[in-house]
Amino acid sequence: MSFPLKRMRRLRKNKKIRDMVSETVLTVNDLIFPIFVKENIERPEPIQSMPGNYRLPIEHAVKEAIELTELGIPATILFGIPQEKDEIASQAYAKNGIIQQTVREIKRELGDRLVVITDICLCEYMSHGHCGIVEGGKILNDPTLKLLAKTAVSHAEAGADIAAPSDMMDGRVLAIRKELDKEGFEDVTIMSYAAKYASSFYGPFREAAGSAPSFGDRASYQMDPRNVEEALHEVELDIREGADIVMVKPALAYLDILYRIKTKFKVVTAAYNVSGEFAMIKAAAEKRWIDEKRVVMETLTSIKRAGADIILTYFAKDIAKRLK
Ligand code: PBG
Repeated sequence: MSFPLKRMRRLRKNKKIRDMVSETVLTVNDLIFPIFVKENIERPEPIQSMPGNYRLPIEHAVKEAIELTELGIPATILFGIPQEKDEIASQAYAKNGIIQQTVREIKRELGDRLVVITDICLCEYMSHGHCGIVEGGKILNDPTLKLLAKTAVSHAEAGADIAAPSDMMDGRVLAIRKELDKEGFEDVTIMSYAAKYASSFYGPFREAAGSAPSFGDRASYQMDPRNVEEALHEVELDIREGADIVMVKPALAYLDILYRIKTKFKVVTAAYNVSGEFAMIKAAAEKRWIDEKRVVMETLTSIKRAGADIILTYFAKDIAKRLK
């Protein structure tokens, strides 16, 4: 059948019909809100390039976590900004490190009412800002694995539900899984940043976390934006090593990657709507060049439509309020 017997517009004629036949649903259960916690500060510090986001003292991070539960958001991912950085990222796995303290406080307050995910990476804790141990200008893979596994265990001891390695060292998922299991944390989930690209969309995050590399870039460990087969390979390896959830990052410039991963592996797949994607929308909206609310909804719906089961986004609170 074709026109004039067939008319596509019949299913678009009013909002009720459009809602009935809609194929993609975005719900608050799909969202993860990132929180930045900073050691030894009294008051929240606004992040210039991420309007509405702050580096928080621990007490405020706990308040923020409570707000998330009130909004119905199921999970947060925590990023720590330590006071002291060194060449072995000791604050990443310190018993009383900023993340360990924050996880304990949030869990004491909320228990199972909020899923607490911790980003497992060393860049925020290294004086040089790279995600691994540096020797002679090179980022070493295998010695870094031990520190990542140690970090994951220390977060688990504090009560974290999900470990999210974002460093892109080879073999980190296996190293973390083994160490977690050895220490009795076989229930801790691993959400790996499996296809993480060496992207310029992380700029605002690096301002927020003070984690820009002091020399070179991350191209020797994060993925080349030109590659897609390689992303499938990365995901396959992470699944084999024990990842429960795989992630694509950034989201928008990589929706094709997300689609292919979901189609091929059919595992739980997350997408990170990163800081630069957030900043672009905020900046254009501030100039009144776009309608922020509509653009945000359209953007997140597109990530869901491409195959994401879960979306990490700085817009999570805004959307939760609107979906209520
Ligand atoms: C740590 C990490 C980064 C992000 C999440 N974890 C920065 C980076 O790899 O440089 C970026 C998140 C964002 O831009 O919102 N490695």
